[in-house]
Amino acid sequence: MSTQQATGHEKVETNLGFMIILTIIIVSIGGIAQIVPLFFMKSTTEPVAGLKPYPALQLAGRDVYVREGCYLCHSQMVRPFRAETERYGHYSVAGEFVYDRPFQWGSKRTGPDLHRVGGRYSDAWHHTHLMEPRSVVPESVMPGYPWLAEQLVDGDLVQHKMQVLKDWYGHPYTAEDLANAKTAVAGKTEIEAMIAYLQGLGLAVKTVR
Ligand code: HEC
Repeated sequence: MSTQQATGHEKVETNLGFMIILTIIIVSIGGIAQIVPLFFMKSTTEPVAGLKPYPALQLAGRDVYVREGCYLCHSQMVRPFRAETERYGHYSVAGEFVYDRPFQWGSKRTGPDLHRVGGRYSDAWHHTHLMEPRSVVPESVMPGYPWLAEQLVDGDLVQHKMQVLKDWYGHPYTAEDLANAKTAVAGKTEIEAMIAYLQGLGLAVKTVR
């Protein structure tokens, strides 16, 4: 026990409840000061030039990507470090993700980052790889997804999703995009949708590889 009179600082440090409350207040102020301005910055809310909302087939593929949990092993976020840009291409920028709801940044890389995988391989390579990864990459630990080749994309659902993204979030789909959504995915399997999605990834920002 201190015989001196408790200073202001000591009062805080010896009263756990009080310290927790003060800590929360300070962290909140810091958090708000960092996060809130991002909502109003053009570079984080405006799409990069040339970025379009996902076409029907890619949107369907994106949903399969989410459903199958590909994000558990793959990130879609190239960080601005030389080792990453040399391997994957231009680092990811915020304006590339404005039509991603939710974004697929991921947090773990058991496999490589996929943000710039678009155009890197042929459709046929992706097909073989998704069916049985070890047939093209013998040391791969990625599971195969053969059922994607059997399941068809639900056109009504895709059209409805595009409508919701347009009405609720302002994704700039045209009346024509919506009208053609069902025919765009008619008879397509989920693996075709997935390949379309992968092939479209990260193309909005020009990247030298
Ligand atoms: C258990 C972890 C795991 C899961 C889940 C997983 N992958 Fe992979 N993926 C890997 C690994 C490891 C590699 C690297 C070896 C290879 O190419 O197979 C890889 C490679 C890839 C590549 C090639 C990337 C490149 O640049 O060479 C693509 C494309 C890919 N995965 C797509 C997917 C998709 C789509 C899904 C979901 C349907 C998925 N992965 C699920 C682990 C995973």
